[in-house]
Amino acid sequence: MLAVVPPPVTVRVPSKINLHLAVGDLRDDGYHELATVFHALSLTDEVTVATSDDPGVEVYGEGEGVVPTGANNLAWRAVQALAAHVGRPEPKIRVALRKGIPVAGGMAGGSADAAATLVGLAALWRLEIGRDELAGIAAKLGSDVPFALYGGTALGTGRGERLVQVLSRHPFHWVLALDQKGLSTPSVFRELDRLREAGDPPRIGSHTPVVEALASGDPRQLALLLGNDLQAAAVSLRPGLRRTLRAGVDAGALAGTVSGSGPTCAFLCDGAQSAVEVAASLAGAGVCRTVRVAHGPVPGARVVGGEESP
Ligand code: C5P
Repeated sequence: MLAVVPPPVTVRVPSKINLHLAVGDLRDDGYHELATVFHALSLTDEVTVATSDDPGVEVYGEGEGVVPTGANNLAWRAVQALAAHVGRPEPKIRVALRKGIPVAGGMAGGSADAAATLVGLAALWRLEIGRDELAGIAAKLGSDVPFALYGGTALGTGRGERLVQVLSRHPFHWVLALDQKGLSTPSVFRELDRLREAGDPPRIGSHTPVVEALASGDPRQLALLLGNDLQAAAVSLRPGLRRTLRAGVDAGALAGTVSGSGPTCAFLCDGAQSAVEVAASLAGAGVCRTVRVAHGPVPGARVVGGEESP
């Protein structure tokens, strides 16, 4: 008798930047208490999950040949976590990652792949599982994984995994400057701890003004308020970022910020046309590997061209 194999499922998942990233104290569990405003961008990865007698992960695009494809890959850990959750040991699943999100770039690309894998597998296995239940599994995989499930714009607290959606009225237009090499997130947090022990670098304030600017939809108001406590640490480890940040503003952006733990820099522009012009000018400035234009907010991980589940 023929076994009926379900067709592969492809999921598109956004990257994120942090419009506001306030880093609090180091906790006993090694994480820092955060108050952050996540913003999901149209720079995406596509993740296909399929039943296979040759389980594993394959990677194309950004990070091809660099991203580990073994048991440490966060997408594979997502397969195992969901399989354990629903009692399916030794899942026969192949995951293909088509990456547009820079690797180790501060845009949560690995987290996005994990979130997409959860959504894809839930559809492939036709699980009766809601997004909130998936978010519980996601939070154990990494601090940024739940946000990639929901997308939009959200306030994240705890280590970033506790989310409340924030009203964001209009699309905002961004240019991203991708660096030659990634930065390790733990080392950027450690560098911030070191800078704070050595002195007292200024801390960004409350997220409330950013939330108000998002509701107004005015990019000029938002531009004045972008802030990231990790920026000083990322610049300390990668001093060239100072030049990149300056070049984006010189190219006509309203403001620039290091995205998360970096090294990607995100530049807010006055509109879609302005973003194209800023990108062209920044690409010629010789301060980064490549540039991308993106807009936000966009939805979280979604099945492409099929019925939506969950
Ligand atoms: O949660 P995730 O595995 O993505 O975090 C990667 C690393 O980033 C952690 O091991 C920790 O060093 C650092 N981190 C932190 N505080 C957070 C989130 C991440 O110190 N709130």
